[in-house]
Amino acid sequence: MAFASKLPDIGTTIFTVMSRRALELGALNLGQGFPDYDIDPRITHLVTAAMAAGHNQYAPMPGTWDLRLQIAQKISTCYGLSVDPETEITITLGATEAIYSAIQASVGAGDEVIIFDPAYDSYDPAIRLAGGRALRLPLLLPDFRYDWDRVRASITERTRLIIVNSPHNPACTLMSAADLDALAAIIAGRDIFVLSDEVYEHVVFDGRTHASVLAHDALRARCFAVFSFGKTLHATGIRVGYCIAPAELTRELRKVHQFNTFSIAHPLQHAIAAYLAQAPEVWKGLAGFFQAKRDRLRQALAGSRFKLPPAAGTYFQLLDFSALDSCDDSTFAERLLTEAGVATIPLSPFYAVAPPLTVVRLCIAKRDATLDEGAARLAAFAQRLDRE
Ligand SMILES: Cc1ncc(COP(=O)(O)O)c(C=O)c1O
Repeated sequence: MAFASKLPDIGTTIFTVMSRRALELGALNLGQGFPDYDIDPRITHLVTAAMAAGHNQYAPMPGTWDLRLQIAQKISTCYGLSVDPETEITITLGATEAIYSAIQASVGAGDEVIIFDPAYDSYDPAIRLAGGRALRLPLLLPDFRYDWDRVRASITERTRLIIVNSPHNPACTLMSAADLDALAAIIAGRDIFVLSDEVYEHVVFDGRTHASVLAHDALRARCFAVFSFGKTLHATGIRVGYCIAPAELTRELRKVHQFNTFSIAHPLQHAIAAYLAQAPEVWKGLAGFFQAKRDRLRQALAGSRFKLPPAAGTYFQLLDFSALDSCDDSTFAERLLTEAGVATIPLSPFYAVAPPLTVVRLCIAKRDATLDEGAARLAAFAQRLDRE
């Protein structure tokens, strides 16, 4: 019997592949974006307490009231905005489910969605499963800038959604207020919605601020904004995220959500709400915490012939190998894995059609000892290449 795949070209994600190979080869994993240090023990205790208190049956479909209240409070503190927890906040299974459900809610057969390469890998398959088509526009190299003229020229009657991501994985760049204005001007007067992936909202460096779509009146009115407690609590395995959208959009998102995941792990929601009540501003420390890690890695590699492009935010730092090798990024990532003992992520899998790329992505959400060891291995490899 032949089974017709809906996603025939999709294999295992580059993140999983690299993590598996790092394990097989005993390489240091600076590839997949997850911390290798412990989470705040208060969260562990609160999860145990929530289970002991009996919060082990279905949670309310949109999320527990307490957690939605805490999120509303956090949005008010962060952005000075009022968000209605009843009608505008939905707790999801990580940001991944928020992205998937928002796409299923808004994209129909034959609709077009503009996404920007290098694009986070869950966008395109979710669009195709909704019957839509992704129009993949490249961010302009070398700085990964938006080309808003090209976006404007690419809009058609079928354009239904535009997906943006800031701080950007894997480019480590931020959208500016001018970018948001340009986006708002392009969709004004059209039935086009925006999905804004803001999972790294708090990991913004060098005193910059995150320009959230939520703080942009015109965009806020037609935007699904998605966030992740996995990133904010250094706990990617916790799989709790949320989507903030106007009531009309939230209503449609919840129709998908209730038949997709229905509701999210009840004890985890209790624990996160209690944690945010205890440590309401815990996210304020994230920028400094990760900036110190970024700077540590940059300093450790400063004397090598790797170049380190500016990194304005996220869990990541790009590593430019153009002075060392003329191969493509996937080949160089393979060399780093097998010859330097360091797993990284090439950027070409984030493209429909990859341009020549001379960077790979390093994850900085690691213990200092891991970063030091990774930098030492990379620097030693660069020296070996110099001598070849
Ligand atoms: C840009 C971006 N969006 C979404 C996600 C998914 O977030 P979550 O782990 O909460 O599903 C990630 C995770 O790495 C990401 O980097």
